[in-house]
Amino acid sequence: MTFKTQAYWLGHSAVKLISPNGTVIYIDPFLSQNPSTPEELKEVEKADYILLTHGHEDHVGDTIEIAKKTGAKVVGIVELMGLLGNEGLADDQSVAFNKGGTVHFDDFSVTMVSANHSSSFKGQYAGDPAGLILSFEDDICVYHMGDTNIFADLELYGELYDPHLVFAPIGDHFTMGPEEAAYAVEMIDPLYAVPIHYNTWPPIEADPAVFKDLLEELDIEARIPKIGENII
Ligand code: NI
Ligand code: MN
Repeated sequence: MTFKTQAYWLGHSAVKLISPNGTVIYIDPFLSQNPSTPEELKEVEKADYILLTHGHEDHVGDTIEIAKKTGAKVVGIVELMGLLGNEGLADDQSVAFNKGGTVHFDDFSVTMVSANHSSSFKGQYAGDPAGLILSFEDDICVYHMGDTNIFADLELYGELYDPHLVFAPIGDHFTMGPEEAAYAVEMIDPLYAVPIHYNTWPPIEADPAVFKDLLEELDIEARIPKIGENII
């Protein structure tokens, strides 16, 4: 199966998607301070949307700076968006929604689903953590799980949204590790799974081959991309 949407892993949980029409979407753009992100990918010239899974700094990252520079709309859970407003994010660049909700943009939509984790921003309550499911018109459905462990609702999300591509955290310590992540992905049952949120720092060292091998036994293809190369 070929898809017209492009998807790039930028290190840690940062993902860049480019729609068939050229809409540029960043998810969790932790770039300038991200030890995994190559220098040439730290600078953002164009962004139309920034989607956030939760308020932790390794996910919010450069959101405010990128939004100010590019005019991108920032999309996330209500409480986090309130806190980002206090940081100077303009009201007309802020899209606040909540779990179960879908927001529709020109050529894609995003649905917020649960993640089992915690969330805060600069020591303040930032709402619940979330996963994000993006649907590109007549093309791919991408599920970014955010930071999470395994939970039973994942099977429901698989049935409801039938994602083609899943980004799953595997680094252990703050999220699920590779074995748990493989079973979580099995519950969603996508075409492809990409491991994220590992090997950024010592506490989250993990072997993506463990994830890949377990998924292979379950007939799901894990792709372990080089940072900055198109995954699909
Ligand atoms: Ni987190
Ligand atoms: Mn994290």
